[in-house]
Amino acid sequence: MSDEKFEPESFEPEYKELNYNSYLKIPELLSLQQELSEPKHHDEMFFIVIHQAMELWFKELLHETSLLIDALKDGVVSRALKVLKRNIAIMELCQKQINLLHTLTPVEFAGFRDRLRPASGFQSIQFRQFEFTYGLRDNFFLKFFSENSEMLESLSIICEQPSVYDVFIKSLKEAGYPVPNSALRSTYTEIYEANSGLESAIKAIYESPEDNYHWVLLFEAMLDFDERVALWRFTHLLMVERTIGKKRGTGGSSGQKFLESRLHYRFFPELWNVRAQIGSDY
Ligand code: HEM
Repeated sequence: MSDEKFEPESFEPEYKELNYNSYLKIPELLSLQQELSEPKHHDEMFFIVIHQAMELWFKELLHETSLLIDALKDGVVSRALKVLKRNIAIMELCQKQINLLHTLTPVEFAGFRDRLRPASGFQSIQFRQFEFTYGLRDNFFLKFFSENSEMLESLSIICEQPSVYDVFIKSLKEAGYPVPNSALRSTYTEIYEANSGLESAIKAIYESPEDNYHWVLLFEAMLDFDERVALWRFTHLLMVERTIGKKRGTGGSSGQKFLESRLHYRFFPELWNVRAQIGSDY
């Protein structure tokens, strides 16, 4: 290591303006955690930080996903895999982040919960954009948020474009695999419905991997990602159960029951369904 002394004065003048705090806007970031409890409840800061950190990760997931869509549109499977690898790692972190809330006891949460009503993660614009971008275009949310112009507009814009899954299916077809035309949609406003012809095409690729390993790897990475999202949902549900039990949510839903009803959602249905078609019937 050099024994040269660290002398800030020796920096070039133009670098003096930019530093860690100014580049990352740390003062602005640290001014955004504003508790509502009066007097301030110690644990509310923890609650706010977890939600804000998660929203930052949702932002990054959406950012990466636009790259994933481009890679799939270009049919560059290796680049799609690279992006998915990062998104899988982020989803793993998001799931672990939910577990931090195990350190919030029901009594601690009850100490400030009433102040945040009717705010709820249910209203997270980015979470809904995330679901819609991958293909879960549940019209229920368009109706539910019909009075929320920001949410409605952002979801409607996404619905004009193919989902990640639509782009994936098209790219499989363009690569020469026997994807039926019925799996290629021309309008994207509805939730995608599984297609048995697509399932057969995916099955054939799985069963003769020699020339298709890059696609097999992509299917498995997509499944890994879908699984991480499902695990996030399940971890969030369990955390909710141990924090508020069967109480209604601050967003007005039935709470536990509502979250249970969302557990079965998957972004890439045929990649799951095809498992039952492989091997013997038992
Ligand atoms: C003590 C902590 C938490 C509790 C008790 C809780 C509770 C709930 C409940 C009951 C719902 C159902 C909607 C409602 O009626 O409110 C919900 C939905 C949701 N929460 Fe949480 N939550 C907590 C923390 C978090 C965190 C840290 C996030 C991260 C952003 C989050 C994100 C979401 C999302 C995205 C939904 C919508 C899920 C869907 O529609 O499938 N929640 N939460």
